[in-house]
Amino acid sequence: MSQITVIGTGYVGLVTGACFSDLGNNVICLDIDEKRISDLNQGIMPIFEPGLEEIVERSHKAGRLQFTVNYPEALRDAEFVFIAVGTPSGSDGEADMSYVEQAVIQIADNMDHPIIIVDKSTVPVGTGDWVADIIQKYRDGHMPKFQVVSNPEFLREGSAVADFMHPERIVLGSNDTEACDRVAELYAPLRAPMLVTDIRTAEMIKYASNAFLATKISFINEIANICESVGANVIDVARGMGLDNRIGSKFLNAGIGWGGSCFPKDVKALAHIAVEYGTQPQLLQAVIDINQTQRRRVVEKLNRMLNGLEGKEIGILGLAFKPDTDDMRESPAADIIRYLTNEKAIIRAYDPEAMEQAKKILPKEVVLCDNPYQVVENADALLLATEWNEFKQLDFKKIHDLMREKNILDGRNLWDPERLSEMGFTYVGVGLGKYI
Ligand SMILES: NC(=O)c1ccc[n+]([C@@H]2O[C@H](COP(=O)([O-])OP(=O)(O)OC[C@H]3O[C@@H](n4cnc5c(N)ncnc54)[C@H](O)[C@@H]3O)[C@@H](O)[C@H]2O)c1
Repeated sequence: MSQITVIGTGYVGLVTGACFSDLGNNVICLDIDEKRISDLNQGIMPIFEPGLEEIVERSHKAGRLQFTVNYPEALRDAEFVFIAVGTPSGSDGEADMSYVEQAVIQIADNMDHPIIIVDKSTVPVGTGDWVADIIQKYRDGHMPKFQVVSNPEFLREGSAVADFMHPERIVLGSNDTEACDRVAELYAPLRAPMLVTDIRTAEMIKYASNAFLATKISFINEIANICESVGANVIDVARGMGLDNRIGSKFLNAGIGWGGSCFPKDVKALAHIAVEYGTQPQLLQAVIDINQTQRRRVVEKLNRMLNGLEGKEIGILGLAFKPDTDDMRESPAADIIRYLTNEKAIIRAYDPEAMEQAKKILPKEVVLCDNPYQVVENADALLLATEWNEFKQLDFKKIHDLMREKNILDGRNLWDPERLSEMGFTYVGVGLGKYI
């Protein structure tokens, strides 16, 4: 049993804290967001993540998981301090390190015994040294012993608890072998493959992994667009490619592009790091550009389908950037809605989990509905933006009756084109044959 403090109670911090406490450790989760901490103390979850609430409740009741806004209290007995605060995009695409910096200053201020600082936030290469420098400078050399370990996180929103408990790999980077060994012990119960390396390499592994996944999606989206020009079917193309195990079938689904809290900012941050160090990131810039084009293409397709957008009523299913999360950060749906409302289209939308987030970020004129059928009432077109399970088997007869014009743009190739065409819909997917 170890004494762990986790700074930041977002998707990564809360899942990390809850899972480590579930493994029998004593964990204190700290956040500067007072409402979030007061909610957590009352058992109210700040995020939707399958399985998380049960673990938080169990460990909180057992006294192994506590929540606080108080740094001295959180650090008093800590052996390990995990940093899991946000690193959003700055104005030039660089990672905004101000939250990490604030957390490190607080650690420097409140450390009075040896600790291991574990960086779980996704941070630029060199951050490990930067963290150590901040503490040295802040304490003017007078501080207890500490080591910094990089431990990038690979969990996916929507399956974060399962990913934490059954990781495909754990990456640890440090210039101090003993510190790495001690962090490795925390993960020992998970019996996962472990890669131990130097701190800069560990930081780079995270960015390279996310950039590769984003590249795979942008690649298949570009192929989808070519399929629409030449009259080929991208679903079969992806299947044919994916059966080659050098390529693999995952992340080869054509659609309206990637979003979320990680890929967009991480690809931009990696490109920024490259430029900063004098390397031209040619591929990364293309990956970003293709992703933006993919969103605009949806608007162009709707425009063509409806013969103009002004005054047209468009129903949108799915707002979260992917299924099984309420996260709308950099969601393709949100971007597309903004383009459409700029063109004076009338938007009704529904998402199974992201409605609260949607209220905060979507243009005020967007009508948020209680279910998929309200969305399509009198609609001129229906756009599927996020492939939630509950959208897989909708009552299309009812949808047909409710819609004014029977146009479907399936942005995730979720539905059966033949069946919907036979039912009388005009169906357009992504990369499914000739579309000019
Ligand atoms: N979300 C993911 O799927 C995911 C996956 C892997 C890695 N990451 C990385 O993990 C980090 C955290 O991501 P997230 O999605 O959990 O972020 P998040 O925005 O959901 O949560 C961050 C939390 O940190 C808190 N915070 C900010 N500054 C603080 C401070 N000084 N002290 C204490 N708390 C502070 C915020 O109030 C917030 O609750 C990022 O670097 C991200 O790139 C995220």
